[in-house]
Amino acid sequence: MHPLDDPQIYRRLDPQGMIDLVARFPAMGTEAWEAGLRLQLPPGPHTTVVILGMGGSGVGGDLLAALLRPAFPLPVVVVKDSRVPGFVGPQTLVFACSYSGDTEETISAYTAARQAGAPAIVITSGGTLEGLAAAHGDAVVPVPRGIPPRAALPYLFLPMVGALRYLLPRADLPGEWAEAHAVLEELAGELGRDVPTDRNPAKQLAQRLVGHLPAVYAATSDLGAVAYRWKSQLGENGKVLALWHAFSELNHNETVGWEDQTLAGRVAVVLLREPEEEPEVTRRIAATREVSFRAAASVSEVTARGRGRLARLLSLVLFGDFVSVYLALLRGVDPTPVPPIDAIKRRLRG
Ligand code: F6R
Repeated sequence: MHPLDDPQIYRRLDPQGMIDLVARFPAMGTEAWEAGLRLQLPPGPHTTVVILGMGGSGVGGDLLAALLRPAFPLPVVVVKDSRVPGFVGPQTLVFACSYSGDTEETISAYTAARQAGAPAIVITSGGTLEGLAAAHGDAVVPVPRGIPPRAALPYLFLPMVGALRYLLPRADLPGEWAEAHAVLEELAGELGRDVPTDRNPAKQLAQRLVGHLPAVYAATSDLGAVAYRWKSQLGENGKVLALWHAFSELNHNETVGWEDQTLAGRVAVVLLREPEEEPEVTRRIAATREVSFRAAASVSEVTARGRGRLARLLSLVLFGDFVSVYLALLRGVDPTPVPPIDAIKRRLRG
């Protein structure tokens, strides 16, 4: 029996059930979407949307920017820092996202944004940020407690999408979510722990990554946010270093690093692709496989599902989340604890 098909491995290495949290992504998404529909935006006009958040709480901002880029009328800027850019002011709509509500950078950035007069919505499960939001009279989207922040991504991301539908009246965002939810349910059924390795592409991919440096490359810059999520999840759940980048930018720099054939042979490439690509993208990836990836340990491909952008982004996110947990188990580590993150936060708090 393949180790990932043995129920023992989950009992032994995943006692807090990260694999079950990943499988609950679609159900969490429904709750989170509904929370977004109930949310009222602060009065405008808004000229910019800014998302504040770090780590698992900040990646929702990256996904939001990627989702909205083609049609949204306003710039969407993600801030992963204690400071906010100089343009932030009364016409900036701010989402401050922190699962714990106690992340120093997010608290400082939120305070700076409020001082600059920006209206804000806070997404958190509690902590200092919840108290500050109450003091400022800002709306709070509550996130359920007791989940590692990175596993709570639907709660941190989807309320922003639901809330912004007013600013994008011609786009059918509710229809996009309905499709995305169906796609996520389908995928969770195909990639879950009970689906044996010989029929489970997420378990198979995790197996290919063991002992290698994963390099997750997005076929387009729009999918770059997802490649970054893969890298982060491989780090936090799988406890491995990983590279990420996006075409076509990677052909202007990282591609040259592949000349180091010794290291190249230890890299397992994962290409994140769209179901329908521009012919230029297909040609570019084929050329890069020939020129750069010849010496790679392996080259795998994962293709997004669905017609809408939301389904495509989230289907790739969910696939990567499963892979990261399976990789942890194959490496003999518990996917849930993140001791270095906790240790550094503790040290900085003094
Ligand atoms: C832990 C995780 C981290 C945190 C980050 C910020 O599961 O994903 O990346 O998200 O350290 O903390 P919060 O989310 O509490 O603001």
